[in-house]
Amino acid sequence: MKRVTFFVLFLLGSLAFGQCPIIPAPSVYQAGTRQLNIASEFSIDPTNAPVNILKYLTETLNDQMGIRVVHSTAGRQLEFKRIENVPQDSYSISVNERIIITYSTEASCFYAINSLIQLIQVNEQNYFIDECFVQDSPRFQWRGLHLDVSRHFFSVDEVKRYIDLMAFYKFNVFHWHLTDDQGWRIEILKYPKLTSIGSRRDSTLNGHYSMTPHTYTKDNHGGYYTQDQIREVVAYAQNKYITIVPEIEMPGHARAALAAYPELSCTGKQQNVPGLWGIFDDIFCSKPETITFLQDVLTEVLELFPSEYIHIGGDEAPKTRWHECKACQKNIKDNNLKDEHELQSYFIRQMDEFLTKNNRKLIGWDEILEGGLSSNASVMSWRGFDGGIEAAKLGHNVVMSPGSHCYFDHYQSKNASEPIGFGGYTPLEKVYEFDPVPSGFTPQQATYVLGGQANLWTEYIPTMRQLEYMAYPRALALSQALWCTNKPSFEQFKEVFIKYHIPSLKARKVNFSMALFYPKMKINRNKKGLNISFQSEEDDHFDVFIKSNDIVNKIDEKRILKETDSLYFERNQGPPAIIDYNFKVTSENLVKPANFTFSNHSSIGLPVELITKPSEKYNYGGDLTLVDGIFGVEPWKGHEWLGYQSDTIEFIVDLESKKKMVGFQLNFLKNEGSWIYLPDAVQLQVSKNKKHWKKLRRISFQMLFKGGITVSNKNTYVQSISKKGRYLKVLIFPKKSIPPGNEGAGQKPWTFIDELTINCK
Ligand code: ACM
Ligand code: ZN
Repeated sequence: MKRVTFFVLFLLGSLAFGQCPIIPAPSVYQAGTRQLNIASEFSIDPTNAPVNILKYLTETLNDQMGIRVVHSTAGRQLEFKRIENVPQDSYSISVNERIIITYSTEASCFYAINSLIQLIQVNEQNYFIDECFVQDSPRFQWRGLHLDVSRHFFSVDEVKRYIDLMAFYKFNVFHWHLTDDQGWRIEILKYPKLTSIGSRRDSTLNGHYSMTPHTYTKDNHGGYYTQDQIREVVAYAQNKYITIVPEIEMPGHARAALAAYPELSCTGKQQNVPGLWGIFDDIFCSKPETITFLQDVLTEVLELFPSEYIHIGGDEAPKTRWHECKACQKNIKDNNLKDEHELQSYFIRQMDEFLTKNNRKLIGWDEILEGGLSSNASVMSWRGFDGGIEAAKLGHNVVMSPGSHCYFDHYQSKNASEPIGFGGYTPLEKVYEFDPVPSGFTPQQATYVLGGQANLWTEYIPTMRQLEYMAYPRALALSQALWCTNKPSFEQFKEVFIKYHIPSLKARKVNFSMALFYPKMKINRNKKGLNISFQSEEDDHFDVFIKSNDIVNKIDEKRILKETDSLYFERNQGPPAIIDYNFKVTSENLVKPANFTFSNHSSIGLPVELITKPSEKYNYGGDLTLVDGIFGVEPWKGHEWLGYQSDTIEFIVDLESKKKMVGFQLNFLKNEGSWIYLPDAVQLQVSKNKKHWKKLRRISFQMLFKGGITVSNKNTYVQSISKKGRYLKVLIFPKKSIPPGNEGAGQKPWTFIDELTINCK
């Protein structure tokens, strides 16, 4: 009630709408017209303030701004009030002659303090806050960031720094991925070999997984946290109102544990802690001894982590070994299970029962839906939104963490000098679009969506600097997506980020990415081809250099392009032209030069109708991708290729008038370790009117390889045609499943396609 009265009174004052510097943006921000100066001595009334929060504020003001804080009930400039019966975790801040913070929970007091810190600005003379009223509460209760410490280990101090930054942006769940194939990172007293053997590998893969043949560095990377260190980090996070959800991976991603205790695998064979990334066939056997072992491990985990949710992994567990294992097959038979998927479900159910008995809740990756979801389980949906949708419809809690928006190991710019990433393209704008509640959900279904989370898998993130580079500023965009009920536009977010948070991140010495500012190449269709322009957030940051042998554009050697300044390309105009473009940062030395190559070929800009839609994750640029003059490169960086996981792929190219087609080419990506395969076959169809189609011979890739048809390289499909028509339909037939003996055997493979060309007479 008090809060409402205050709000009304405040509105009666003269108000101007100002820009709110807080990220994530609060529900209400009303700016006044005056400023409150913060003198070099600042008095806080400690009454009603939680001690740890007072300490945090005092230290921050002192250490970061040199403001000396005195705690006194007299002459106070800041006071706290605790209120009841308001939305969970809500708080308000009023800044007038003095500052009053009202809060509901202790966590909300902490959120208020972080908002207050972000409200403080500085000019030449002093620190000040714009007169304002803030009222705020979070949209989601699960606002998570994850960290994989298995692929690369991060020290206690580094983890604390990660937590500090999370807390400042109001994240409240730290998902600590403690075990995986490449290293077991948590001390378990009952099973000391998990860390004495399982925490160190003898080598580490060189470069990207897709660069074959694989070579290794001698880096015997290792490390683990003692139980005392874990307790220290848990307490540290608690002090910042962050819950740590530990993850113990099972039944897959278990090679480090199996190196320590090979008897827990199906074969019993001694194997090493691998220095290679990926998915391994050797997983925990489903026999009772393994279940006992894992429940023993969880018993110690529960003592260390007070979190309600315990993550048991559950992803990417090939069933190859279970299929051949006597104990696993006996388990299937004895428990009337249909297959190995139901065996996985049976396996997870035993963990669910164990955790439920211990008053905790199980959460796992969306594969735990396969073979039947255990009754109390919650789902973390990473292979898109579908797993989360299915689970919520079944009445289970879900956390949305789809690769399309939430995988911060993906690339964030198309700059060729980006450090090696896992693959995938998730720029800041994409993260910002994220909404954990799928469209079409009823309010009732939406109640099962606890929130969202970004994941930082660290195969290609060996250092803290690199970790910060991948996480920031994308984490700011995510914090906004998870906190704000009425999320501001991306433009508004960007302005606030640039004006207030770049200086703040710099002051904190965070190694954040400046990808947002890189000049972006924009390609649009015109009547006879394409227009290309370059756009940068801040033109004065960059010089754009362009070189071209193109005849139409007659490009100078050096030129700074503005958005309006576009290049024009007409298809079939002379020989293919190569445009090299690179940029250099002029005002700050933040990025290395980069370049793109553009090929003016015979089919640029032709209309393409994608009958089969690409996966949302790998559809950057849509249909234009196939005819934009930019050939997808290897290793794949998440853009320039369209990715599908479908039974057939179909699209139609429109030549815009009847022509004699003489040849067709289409590039495919092959990266079998990442489940990306060449298809079985392609079939072309030609039509004059899009109604009647002339089918050409279906051609298998095997035939291509036998030399019946000319191929320029093995991933380019080439076919001669000799037919008249206006439309060309392309039907692609991927393999039904990944062949045995390969990673992901039995799963549906991915098909990646890029630039197509049709030659006509
Ligand atoms: C995952 O990314 N394998 C959960
Ligand atoms: Zn087995």
